[in-house]
Amino acid sequence: MIKTINDLLLDSREKNDIEICGWVKTKRASRNICFIMINDGSTLNDLQCVINVDELGTNISDSINTGASVKINGNLINSKGNEQNLELKVKSIDIIGGSINYPIQPKNHSLEFLRDISHLRFRTRTFYSVFKIRSTISYAIHKFFRDNNFIYLNTPILTSNDAEGAGEMFTVTSIDLLNNKNIDFKDDFFGQKVNLTVSGQLEAETGIFGLNRVYTFGPTFRAENSNTTRHLAEFWMVEPEMAFFDLEADIVLAENFVKYIITSVLDQCKPELEFLNALCVKKDNYSLIDKLTNTVNEKFEQISYTEAINILSNCKKNSEFRYPVTGWGIDLQTEHERYLTESYFKKPVIITDYPKDIKAFYMRLNDDNKTVAAMDILFPGIGEVIGGSQREERLDYLMNAIKEKSINPDYLKWYLETRQFGTIIHSGFGMGLERIVQFITGMDNIRDTIPFPRFPNHCEF
Ligand code: 4AD
Ligand code: MG
Repeated sequence: MIKTINDLLLDSREKNDIEICGWVKTKRASRNICFIMINDGSTLNDLQCVINVDELGTNISDSINTGASVKINGNLINSKGNEQNLELKVKSIDIIGGSINYPIQPKNHSLEFLRDISHLRFRTRTFYSVFKIRSTISYAIHKFFRDNNFIYLNTPILTSNDAEGAGEMFTVTSIDLLNNKNIDFKDDFFGQKVNLTVSGQLEAETGIFGLNRVYTFGPTFRAENSNTTRHLAEFWMVEPEMAFFDLEADIVLAENFVKYIITSVLDQCKPELEFLNALCVKKDNYSLIDKLTNTVNEKFEQISYTEAINILSNCKKNSEFRYPVTGWGIDLQTEHERYLTESYFKKPVIITDYPKDIKAFYMRLNDDNKTVAAMDILFPGIGEVIGGSQREERLDYLMNAIKEKSINPDYLKWYLETRQFGTIIHSGFGMGLERIVQFITGMDNIRDTIPFPRFPNHCEF
């Protein structure tokens, strides 16, 4: 196997005749010496390579530009500089791919600028760190569920149901829309109207009747026109579903789950977190690492929706909200969620038992006939990271909720059969991967937590 820069730096011993390949990050040249920093994407750290211009020729340093790919042969020696332990004394250098007018230069580019060149931004330290952490989180998700006897179930991306009943779906068709005025989906590929999934929950629910505990983890799509720093049109959602779990068991699992993920990143991504921590200190004057450590160590606050409404309507800030809390029944806005997590409790808050009218049809009706056994976990700086519930297992109640929400039961026949044949109490939740990546990396905008973000008017790459 080719040695990566990471292998060499971890080994931390002097060695002769080393070959490395990578990209030029920066170059500093004086009359007879040229320093180039090389990164090969195997570590956050660059390898300093020192070229003796008199030995290798002046034209060499002239033709090395930021972004160029190079193959270098040399001796790895202890560095005289303070910044690094080892450096490579270059014996020969081949420029594999030149790089003229490379847009990412050694200066601070704005994240907006980098987003427009998402295909190149992997080469920055910021995005190296974000995507390494994102990958670590994905692995931790699989590990957590496997360790807790869950089965990984892949639910469909093409579906004919609207799991959330919110109508925010992208239609998928093979009909030539430009040349077809009167579209009849009966003539379409699947013989019916099909959309990209908004959630794999309903299919995951059917899985637990034979598999007990399952989780689905995949891309989900929402055509909601929310141009915010927390919404994407394509995002990854992980959704566990558990047989015989009530809402309290669901909440305990969810809290343990996010804490496990954060702990995994704290343990496995120290250099990347330190790098992002420095950005947060510089920009917003807070320690990202302290925030994460505190989140793992404290018990999340748990209150009911009704208690949340009481706190909000009695707080001094209520008159300053864009949407002042007027009474029981309203949906919580981001500003309300942020007040509760950032000003009032100053930690993650779990809100339970929301009014049935503002939640999805599948949530279990409470005995008060007004609220459902729902829970949202809200995080400071982000708002909702997890949304879940105990599911309505009573067929007649479920039919009633479907009717009340004017949903066509014909599309849910298969789902309703789970309640007809051996129904059980069960619960689950969904966590948006990008929202947790956002919290852990401290990125301000969710568009910077996924390699190629999709949002209104943007589907580049
Ligand atoms: O609260 P939501 O809509 O719940 C569901 O879809 C349920 N079926 C989940 C379940 O119980 N199995 O979405 C779940 C989570 C949210 O808490 C949020 O983290 C994320 O998905 N999410 C989004 N993330 C990015 N962009 C969007 N547009 C999102 N919409 C939801
Ligand atoms: Mg929700």
